[in-house]
Amino acid sequence: MRSGADKEGCAATAARVAAAPVLAQNPVVIVGSGHSGVAVAAGLRTRGWDGGILLIDSENGLPYERPPLSKELLKDGAPDDPAVLRKEKFYADKGISRLAGASAESIDRDGRTVLLSDGTRQAYHRLVIATGSRARPLTVPGAGLPGVRSLRTRDDALELKRLLVPGTRVAIIGAGYIGLEVAAAAAAKACEVTVLEFQDRVMSRVTSAPVSRHFEQLHGQHGVRFVFGAAVTSIDGGERAERVTVADGTAFPADVVLAGIGVLPNQELAADAGLGCRDGILVDGDGRTSDPAIYASGDVTRFTSPFDGTSQRLECIQNALAQADRVAAHITGQAAAEPEIPWFWTVQHGVRLQTAGVRHPDDEVIVRGEPAGGRFSVVYLRDGRLAAVDTIANLAEFRTAKRLIAQGVRIDPVLAADPGIPLAEAISGTPSHDHAAADLAAARA
Ligand code: APR
Repeated sequence: MRSGADKEGCAATAARVAAAPVLAQNPVVIVGSGHSGVAVAAGLRTRGWDGGILLIDSENGLPYERPPLSKELLKDGAPDDPAVLRKEKFYADKGISRLAGASAESIDRDGRTVLLSDGTRQAYHRLVIATGSRARPLTVPGAGLPGVRSLRTRDDALELKRLLVPGTRVAIIGAGYIGLEVAAAAAAKACEVTVLEFQDRVMSRVTSAPVSRHFEQLHGQHGVRFVFGAAVTSIDGGERAERVTVADGTAFPADVVLAGIGVLPNQELAADAGLGCRDGILVDGDGRTSDPAIYASGDVTRFTSPFDGTSQRLECIQNALAQADRVAAHITGQAAAEPEIPWFWTVQHGVRLQTAGVRHPDDEVIVRGEPAGGRFSVVYLRDGRLAAVDTIANLAEFRTAKRLIAQGVRIDPVLAADPGIPLAEAISGTPSHDHAAADLAAARA
């Protein structure tokens, strides 16, 4: 049940808002100006919040789109600036104050203030932590040598773009989204690309073997070389990185090394303030932390899935935006939108993989269509229900899949394996809307 609806903020500020400076009234302070932080600010205004809003951003400049950093931005001739999330005028028009190039150092929960990196304290009525995640650092000897990079910010992307010139030997550590998107960009720029992956296939965290195989082959056709089971032990060189050595002693020459080995949630601000954290800041369905005056939103959070009751930390824009809406709704005492099935996407060598739902490694895997044809789907069933779908170059099926997963339908595996039968017609027995609703209610209880 929704509790603590914060009408207090709206009502109390309504009479005073015209006269006093914006931040003087019940400010909502948002730490982090990624997709989620900016969406909380925008959502508060859309929902009628008339108190102050302050967005704090450790980076300079306007908040920007992150997906292009490992894709379009790396291409030759592409503009160096990723698209901004909102233009400057939006923040001004909406009375959203921004503090760029500043970070929040600590929280005084009793005094409801945040200590900023410039030594000042900012009072808050409600605090939203939307600090996102950072690239997991590579910790082997030599990881600090010039030429060893990670990719998370605009500056990271621009530096990488500068380094990726024809003939450059690029070693990529990690075959996840980041590693593979950069591999595609580097191969397109006539670099010599070697991907060193710990596991035995690409994207093993997020997809099944048939999809991994398809993308491995695709990269192979573009000259990308893979080494699986590769445990990097050191990066060696003089002034700069020159080679990457793996556990069996093999050394791979490299002018540029990119570590794409996952992300870590930026939860320290919350953890240091005593808020519950466990690989992510723990939040409830309204984005509330263990302190009722403090919310968290986006990549940095861990929460219980309203669909299957599992604990999850999602790294995707869909979640960043959906959770932001729930936070804005709760702060303003309004109802949030219904939960949405999470979805994810990547583009490599122009081929788009879109995933609806979160697959579990022990799901039943059904391939729909012929991967060699370049357009196929993989359906994941859990206890007979549609749990997740990967679609390759098939936007229409991706849309259908999102809808069907949300409905909790049971799927006939034989029908689902026939690409000639629309996925919506592979539903078996009675569509399980009622089961899905019951599961949802149980997960929320
Ligand atoms: N050596 C080699 N491979 C490693 C090592 C290591 N020391 N450590 C991790 N890996 C591999 C993992 O096995 C995995 O395949 O790196 C890959 C990392 O993949 P992801 O966890 O998907 O992380 P990444 O590709 O960095 O993407 C991070 O950024 O684009 C966003 O939202 C996207 O969630 C994604 C996030």
